[in-house]
Amino acid sequence: MKITIMPDEQKFDTTAAWRIIAQIMQKPDSVIGLSTGQTTGGMHRIVSDIYREYPFDVSKVTFFNVDELTNLEREYSGSCYAMIYDQLVRHLGISEDNFIMPPTLSDDFERESKIFEERLAGRGGVDLQMLGIGMNGHIGINQPGTPFESETWVSPMDPDFEARVRRETNVPDSLELGGLTRGIKNIMHTRKIILVAKGVHKAKIIEQALLGPVTTDIPASIIQLHPNCEVLMDAEAAASV
Ligand code: GLP
Repeated sequence: MKITIMPDEQKFDTTAAWRIIAQIMQKPDSVIGLSTGQTTGGMHRIVSDIYREYPFDVSKVTFFNVDELTNLEREYSGSCYAMIYDQLVRHLGISEDNFIMPPTLSDDFERESKIFEERLAGRGGVDLQMLGIGMNGHIGINQPGTPFESETWVSPMDPDFEARVRRETNVPDSLELGGLTRGIKNIMHTRKIILVAKGVHKAKIIEQALLGPVTTDIPASIIQLHPNCEVLMDAEAAASV
């Protein structure tokens, strides 16, 4: 596992942005998985800014997000589709066909999970997964206790994260939210993983995930076993490693 520590948030965002661009430069038909959240918004905007100044070929690249909320309209500002579209996809002019997302509304999410995976496999599998980490160590939306063999599914939500989504999107309490997420097994089958973390609030969970035992109690700890993984952090998130 390679560990990269940047001195501040700006350099963290810029370095992460260049990791995405470098992947596209090296393999123009790359399949790239993204993550939403406060950690990744900055890097997505920098990729968009660089593209605006110095357009590069994105006609063959495929983007998707590692997870998506279920049971709300995809146009809600808090859906992963809306966030990735707004931060990155629309600026780069990525075609609908090259932006692979599961639907937010369906009566059969098990089937949607399979279709999502089949579409990614149809592109030759995932080259790079940019992966956030939750405060409890979740990756995607896979909560502590999720088996490492889990495959793309609808996971229960982390209560804090759910509260945040409800706040940001005005989803009524009566509507049950879920999180469709690539399973831990699917995430591990990615050719390259870059786990990103910034901020002092992530220092403790980063220490546990990187230096502690590999355990389903901390889903992110599984990346210790990935053969091609980088952890990119700012100095605050890396304070305890
Ligand atoms: C949510 C997302 C995850 C993301 C995590 C971290 O749970 N579904 O994919 O990794 O948040 O978010 P933040 O960067 O805001 O801490």
